[in-house]
Amino acid sequence: MTRIDIQESERREREVEDLMAHRYNRDYHNPPVMASHSKAFVEYVARFVRPGDRILDLGCASASLWPLFKSLLPADVTIAGVDLSPKMLDVARASYPESDFREGSFLAVPHGPGEFDVVIVSSAFHHINDSLLAPSLKEVHRVLDEHGLLIGREPLMSERLSDRGGWFAGALMHLRHLAYRLSGTREYPEPDPGPDHHAYHPKEFLRSIDTVLTVVDVEFRNPASLFLARVHHPAVVKLALHLDDFIKHREGQEVHYAARKNFSTAADVNDCIEKALLDNKLSEEELKAFMVQVAAAARVIERELQSSEAQWNR
Ligand SMILES: C[S@@+](CC[C@H](N)C(=O)[O-])C[C@H]1O[C@@H](n2cnc3c(N)ncnc32)[C@H](O)[C@@H]1O
Repeated sequence: MTRIDIQESERREREVEDLMAHRYNRDYHNPPVMASHSKAFVEYVARFVRPGDRILDLGCASASLWPLFKSLLPADVTIAGVDLSPKMLDVARASYPESDFREGSFLAVPHGPGEFDVVIVSSAFHHINDSLLAPSLKEVHRVLDEHGLLIGREPLMSERLSDRGGWFAGALMHLRHLAYRLSGTREYPEPDPGPDHHAYHPKEFLRSIDTVLTVVDVEFRNPASLFLARVHHPAVVKLALHLDDFIKHREGQEVHYAARKNFSTAADVNDCIEKALLDNKLSEEELKAFMVQVAAAARVIERELQSSEAQWNR
């Protein structure tokens, strides 16, 4: 297999992920609370995906989300996977031998320009150094079709219930220790992920996405249940998910977001028209009449097609 050129910081990440590959699905996807988070994320993805879409799962790991993709996305979509870790890809290929899995980096996605309608980055950008986020987003932009979508989720700091500090955070920590102790739950030994792994401040993260694409949807998730993520005991799982629903995910330890390439509105058309009116070669009258037609066309397109976009997004 051809080795890809990667940065020093990515080399360490690849070593860590290679070590985790054999137990990634078992430890991070199968525990019921985490499985429920993954299902909620893929249901979120399904709101945006249209029949026939070409999808890239960037940072796909061991194809951990693919059983959910297969059951919740339209049957005729095509899905390709890219990951930094060869060992993760070995596990992915063993489960989906017919699928296109390629070794690659966020900084050098091994696909051509405009190849995908949707790029999914699930819980993976938080593994990289902040300085690599903007160039990674530019790669996503490159491989997306003209009006393609990036759909992702990442862990958050600062919008978490526990970030209120004091007794409130204390209560949640005690709840966690109580539940883990009584249900005999163990934390997993984890290799040191290095200094680049970090949760995001939601506003800063979304602002970074917005510099390259246009964020069109955001939802916060899992305010309480992540505290109880490793528990298998059915009663605890039920309670953990109940706590999230009780405050309706108004805050969360995770963000789901969708961001579109080349997102234009009638207001954008109008802005340009106003500027064009200041700098034209046609007569003022001719140009004005034409621009009024263009503005009207933009409004009609927006009005007529918004309802069909809403339909895709259902
Ligand atoms: C926590 S796992 C998430 C896997 C999967 N998307 C999910 O939601 O379960 C993060 C994955 O991102 C990959 N990754 C981290 N940095 C990367 C980079 N610079 N380029 C490509 N993949 C990367 C890791 O190898 C790992 O498999």
